[in-house]
Amino acid sequence: LFLRAKASSPTTMANEEVTGGSLKQQLAKLFEESLRITVPEELDVDPAIAPCQNPKFATMPWACGQKLKGRAPFKGPQPIGQAIMKNLPASEMVDSCSIAGPGFVNVVLSRQWIAKSIQKMLVDGIETWAPKLPVKRAVVDFSSPNIAKEMHVGHLRSTIIGDTLARMLEYSNVEVLRRNHVGDWGTQFGMLIEYLFEKFPSGEVASDQAIEDLETFYKASKQRFDSDPAFKERAQRAVVSLQAGDEKYRKAWAHICEISRRGYEKVYQRLGVHLEEKGESFYNPYIPGALELLSKKGLIEESEGARVIFIEGKNIPLIVVKKDGGYNYASTDLAALWYRLNEEKAEWIIYVTDVGQREHFEMFFTAAKRAGWLPAEDNKYPKTSHVGFGLVLGEDGKRFRTRSTETVKLVDLLDEAKSKCKAALIERGKAKDWTEEDLEKTAEAVGYGAVKYADLKNNRTTNYTFSFDQMLNDKGNTAVYLLYAHARICSIIRKSGKDIEELKRTGTLDLVHPDERTLGLHLLQFAEVVEEACTNLLPNVLCEYLYNLSEDFTRFYTNCQVVGSAEETSRLLLCEATAVVMRKCFHLLGITPVYKI
Ligand code: ARG
Repeated sequence: LFLRAKASSPTTMANEEVTGGSLKQQLAKLFEESLRITVPEELDVDPAIAPCQNPKFATMPWACGQKLKGRAPFKGPQPIGQAIMKNLPASEMVDSCSIAGPGFVNVVLSRQWIAKSIQKMLVDGIETWAPKLPVKRAVVDFSSPNIAKEMHVGHLRSTIIGDTLARMLEYSNVEVLRRNHVGDWGTQFGMLIEYLFEKFPSGEVASDQAIEDLETFYKASKQRFDSDPAFKERAQRAVVSLQAGDEKYRKAWAHICEISRRGYEKVYQRLGVHLEEKGESFYNPYIPGALELLSKKGLIEESEGARVIFIEGKNIPLIVVKKDGGYNYASTDLAALWYRLNEEKAEWIIYVTDVGQREHFEMFFTAAKRAGWLPAEDNKYPKTSHVGFGLVLGEDGKRFRTRSTETVKLVDLLDEAKSKCKAALIERGKAKDWTEEDLEKTAEAVGYGAVKYADLKNNRTTNYTFSFDQMLNDKGNTAVYLLYAHARICSIIRKSGKDIEELKRTGTLDLVHPDERTLGLHLLQFAEVVEEACTNLLPNVLCEYLYNLSEDFTRFYTNCQVVGSAEETSRLLLCEATAVVMRKCFHLLGITPVYKI
């Protein structure tokens, strides 16, 4: 069985209440009821509802049809479809049904129902369209740069993707713990601290100036570490002192962390991203307890002097205690997972890093399952997910780097996007009638929005090419184009001179023209798209929706006169609904909308 829905032609409408849930969920409810009557002995049939114009159509699981095909008393999928259609409860959603192809049930949605649902959203707010997810609390572990090392474009991707996922979950009424799992612990600190002491032997705390460029500082100390055995030995002892809590070492460590933090805070500020830092050091005290639990389950073995967990299907075991007795990335992640599950009671823990770390996550997730911390089945909660993303490439197809230096200064990158946008606005003659503040704000919204959108619109697992020219183009699938489209809708409403708040209450939305119906139906699919983007952790699904929405709007606006037409009120309401949904998309993508252009 395959159910297809499309916008209807005018009919009379039943006077029922508009019920909750996404369009898909509401249709599913109807079909589940019919299935209960038609095939009462089948309990777990998925009606597999999908919009018929959707290109995904051909690849959707045909679960229901495959399961039911040819079962008595039905002969073949066509008669099953007929029976399901006949048993469908009456609903104001449905205008008419028909059978198509090998047993598809085609549903034509009621035009009035579509219009009514949209108008209800305009009155009650878009929050009423939030999808319902089966979790209450989630951890999104994202951004997570390493202290004293560069915060590179990979961390920028993690920051942008993680923030969007957090926003989508928050919109869906999930409490999100936004965790910055910074690399603020480990052996590199011995070397950094020792180098700090060496440069400031008098013991006074180094001025920020002295280690301002932490990356250079890191490199210099690393060089020292690699070339001088005596230094190396001191550095190794420094780690021990630090871990033992020696005050002098603690202070130096905190100082280095603080300077590093100030650097990446600048990036977060520009991006409008909020994170709560709980770095690796935070979980350090929990490691022995967590390992003890795993040990009791018989998971930890000795191997070549280290303590390890062997994972089925992997050649190399997961090392949890190194030969020298020290802990590592994996031991910290196991302790952090234990903490998140037991102390923070998170039901879904999402990690956003480059795909290169997939193996690490797979391995410690498997260990946690074997220990019974997580259920063995992937569709049960509590659950962990690794959100892997590809590389950022330069236009030369190689790993992205800026011209001058080896590394990419993320702040400079964002500043450049902004200043290019400002130049474009000035070129469009905006300097004449806009204030400097308007210019700045718009350039910021568009520039930062462009960087974020260029990243988010791709399927995250693929590499993507960083190109200012592409992302700042005002045509095509870019934030610039979308933000301008939104601004244009706002200006249509402004130019009508009508009070839109008043119209929401007193006017009536109707969808007469086919392009109005297409747009209306697209708006109604918002909730299920957010739900899909959340469930599969794919922000590009939302980007695609937003882009198609603006295309549907353009088609509507080209073919349907708004201001001054007989349908003005209804069409203004449709404009407003489009603007509201677009703004929600922007919000979920972390992009600031602009209202004029
Ligand atoms: N600091 C790591 C890196 O830069 C990312 C940490 C991701 N989170 C985690 N819980 N392992 O690659």
